[in-house]
Amino acid sequence: MGHNKFAPSWLSEPKDLNQVDAGVWPSGLARTPAGDVSIAGIPVAELATKFGTPLMVIDQDDFFARAKKVKSAFENSCSRIGTSSKTYYAGKSLLTTEIVKWIDQLGLNLDVSTGGELALALAGGISPDRIGLHGNNKSLYEIGRAVTANVGAIVIDSEIEIERIASVAGAQDKIQPVRIRVNAGVHAHTHEYLATAREDQKFGIAISDVPVLVEKIRSHSHLKFLGLHSHIGSQIFALEGFIESIRRLLPLHKLLLAGGAVPELNVGGGFGINYTSSDDAPEITEFADRIADEVATICGELEIAVPILCFEPGRVISGPAGITLYNVGTIKDVQLKEDGVTGVRKYVSIDGGMSDNARPSLYSADYSPILASRVSGAKPALSRVVGKHCESGDVVVRNCYLPEDINPNDLLAVAATGAYCHSLASNYNYVTRPAIVAVKNGNIQLVLRAETEADMFARDPGYLEDKTR
Ligand SMILES: Cc1ncc(COP(=O)(O)O)c(C=O)c1O
Repeated sequence: MGHNKFAPSWLSEPKDLNQVDAGVWPSGLARTPAGDVSIAGIPVAELATKFGTPLMVIDQDDFFARAKKVKSAFENSCSRIGTSSKTYYAGKSLLTTEIVKWIDQLGLNLDVSTGGELALALAGGISPDRIGLHGNNKSLYEIGRAVTANVGAIVIDSEIEIERIASVAGAQDKIQPVRIRVNAGVHAHTHEYLATAREDQKFGIAISDVPVLVEKIRSHSHLKFLGLHSHIGSQIFALEGFIESIRRLLPLHKLLLAGGAVPELNVGGGFGINYTSSDDAPEITEFADRIADEVATICGELEIAVPILCFEPGRVISGPAGITLYNVGTIKDVQLKEDGVTGVRKYVSIDGGMSDNARPSLYSADYSPILASRVSGAKPALSRVVGKHCESGDVVVRNCYLPEDINPNDLLAVAATGAYCHSLASNYNYVTRPAIVAVKNGNIQLVLRAETEADMFARDPGYLEDKTR
């Protein structure tokens, strides 16, 4: 069986389309003897009937297991090199008040990047001193809110924020802990990283500008300098990217030690996950060990104490724990012809799309679907799962194999949609956003109800006045 010319090289025809790849799907997902898929013991068809589709389902035990594994990986690696760690869950990947409660229970800290995320974090009841606030353009209102709430750290992203934070903290007679985000000139994405003199992007402060700004921070009695921060990208498989950024940050860290304490070093998040069977993301323990080893080596060479290491993982915790269920609508076999070779691509339209998962259209991200409501013995058909929006780029799974006999009203499940799907969701074409449920040991918890048309149009006075409904 040759490779289908119209499939990318990484996608091979599966031997058994009914099989569930444990490397991609949450640990609680399985095929039942009847052939349908269940998650945490609950048939997905039951979830779809109860809550409608699209529906995001989080395997709570899987989320917890991943969070614990990440936290202990950093703790163990740091303890091995004689320091401690602080792990901030990146709320931008997936956040609701229930998830804030989970993060709190798990003993993780929480990274937020806007006033909205901060409001949700506070509503979820996590202690403010465990919250870190990011953002390249924090408003005065956001800064005020963070200082008033007593957040544990604010990450300064530009010079102007130093005065702004200092004056708010001064007015409240508080000492606000701050970090400074460094543009280390390292950008990593999946298998590669790029190292330049200075990365051409909006975040952070150039290495050469940092010493003067840290002096400024230290000149304010209402600010406390915690240390440097760097985040080099997302969905990273290339450990070398972290190594390079550490090699650039620690000499600067040493320079700053001459002027006062620098207790922490925050190396950000970005740890990659498997979206398809062809992905092979490093284990989080591998990231943790390599980072800790490099920090220990360089600190040894520089003859400085090893700082407390901070991490901001998001996707690696929330991503694989979530799946999305869709109902299949229309199906089309599109004839293909290239270089004299003909083929067929099955376009399977589902009842969501780029409004609930923007990543394929934004970043050409790949995903894995399975037929979840039954088994099929049909042959694999090269397929594309597309949404219902008015964009040809509205794709949920660009390249996959689905059974040739896929039908309207079949249920499709798409793996690893926990991170950056709900958080990037929109109402494009006035499509309402899906519900989120958490499942555990046969129990279902509604984490976020599905958006209604009334929610969606609540800001439109004409809709509210419409008496024809
Ligand atoms: C500053 C910062 N920290 C942490 C993260 C989390 O990244 P990930 O979810 O890929 O771990 C991001 C994501 O964009 C980020 O910008």
